[in-house]
Amino acid sequence: MSGGGFAAAVVDWQRREGRHDLPWQGTRDAYRIWLSEVMLQQTQVATVVPYYQRFLAAFPDVAALAGAPLDQVMRLWSGLGYYSRARNLHRCAVEVVERHGGRFPVDAGTLETLPGIGRSTAAAIAVFAGGARAAILDGNVKRVLCRAFGVAGWPGERAVEKRLWELAERELPQAGIEAYTQGLMDLGATVCTRSRPACERCPVAGRCVALREDSVGRLPAPRPA
Ligand code: ADE
Repeated sequence: MSGGGFAAAVVDWQRREGRHDLPWQGTRDAYRIWLSEVMLQQTQVATVVPYYQRFLAAFPDVAALAGAPLDQVMRLWSGLGYYSRARNLHRCAVEVVERHGGRFPVDAGTLETLPGIGRSTAAAIAVFAGGARAAILDGNVKRVLCRAFGVAGWPGERAVEKRLWELAERELPQAGIEAYTQGLMDLGATVCTRSRPACERCPVAGRCVALREDSVGRLPAPRPA
């Protein structure tokens, strides 16, 4: 732990100001959480919501999805983009049925072995479905951490990404992991946005290195030309 109070401020803010009524919240059903996290990998919440609801209506559990023909899955995914996600989604459902007896795993290590589930998505599922103390690092969270801790360099670079994972792990709270994880996502999506961030509404503004050094607009650094 850094002892800096970053996580405590995020947890407190998420409980007061964060999003609490998204359709994949309020469940510990790993299947539902996985479905939402895969859809949210490259797509915004407002776009995902109707797709998520149509998918759940068509495939209420992992066995239903595994048993569906791929072309039905592709049709329901149509419009969401990044179609390898839909093919991996179907392959993942088949693997959960064939290798895990239809019970969706909730530990991050096992989740990461499944198609379409990388380190950050595995951690998000482990947190929301199992309450695990695991670090996420998607594009939004990279931006929040780059600014809050003044991380220079393009996050697509190995050394920078490694530093960001270290920070993500270091700042994890001992308690309130779900609120903290959701809070990082909410901050990145609604306050610490790429352009025109709302620093006046930010719970960690008082400790934000980029704000103090007037470099919010320059972080995260873009890909080198
Ligand atoms: N982006 C990625 N995961 C998310 C989640 N669970 N809620 C909102 N936005 C997200």
